Amino acid sequence: MDREIIPNHVAIIMDGNGRWAKRRNLPRSLGHKAGSENLKKLGLHIFKCGVRVLSVYAFSTENFKRSPEEVSYLMDLFVKNFKRELKVFIDNNIRVVFSGRREPLRHDVLEAMDEVVEATRENTAGIFNICLNYGSQYEIIDAVRRIVEEKKDVSELTPKEFEKYLYQDLPPVDFLIRTSGEYRLSNFMMYQLAYAEFYFTDCLFPDFDDKKFDEALKIFQSRDRRFGGVKK
Ligand code: IPE
Ligand code: IPE
Ligand code: MG
Repeated sequence: MDREIIPNHVAIIMDGNGRWAKRRNLPRSLGHKAGSENLKKLGLHIFKCGVRVLSVYAFSTENFKRSPEEVSYLMDLFVKNFKRELKVFIDNNIRVVFSGRREPLRHDVLEAMDEVVEATRENTAGIFNICLNYGSQYEIIDAVRRIVEEKKDVSELTPKEFEKYLYQDLPPVDFLIRTSGEYRLSNFMMYQLAYAEFYFTDCLFPDFDDKKFDEALKIFQSRDRRFGGVKK
């Protein structure tokens, strides 16, 4: 595929795990398990396509409203997956970073996160940004708080400087995908999505495979991005 029209930064709102399970008369937890299995394959495929940064919405700040059983199942799954996938990240030269608040994540979750970040810090083939206990509103609030704490003079503050205070200083998102037929952002990367192309599909995340991604990529490649300029 033409390298030039591969999005540099892809972001995915991985939605629909619960409904995937419900349709099969399975508990929601098995939907999350299927979603995480899918991400393993899909993530590698996306990097193989030439995407440099992949951001995924794993758990929102609002997802703590769910039952304690579901939250704790998800946290256990994160710990297990970060430990198990460490070798895959290393073998594929992928650097893992996290976006989100550390509070009130469990100690073992934080430990597993820190371990994977540390072990992949020097990797250069791609950046896998896992948004966990993430919300855009708190991201912007936390950035403002840090700027105030540093008592920065904000009179000349530019977007480029402001971005350094976000959870991760990453390039802007080029392509946003949301699965499961919902047409909303649910507090995801509102700042970084300023000029992203949006793609919504009814497909539930556990079924959103490599082929479905390739279809989405074709749509991205047919879009006319102008960034506020005039069509050539
Ligand atoms: C997305 O799937 C995963 C998380 C939010 C952790 P959901 O759990 O939201 O699945 P639905 O939307 O209920 O189908
Ligand atoms: C967004 O999905 C969060 C993740 C995919 C992790 P939700 O399922 O939580 O979003 P709403 O509640 O439908 O807006
Ligand atoms: Mg959902």
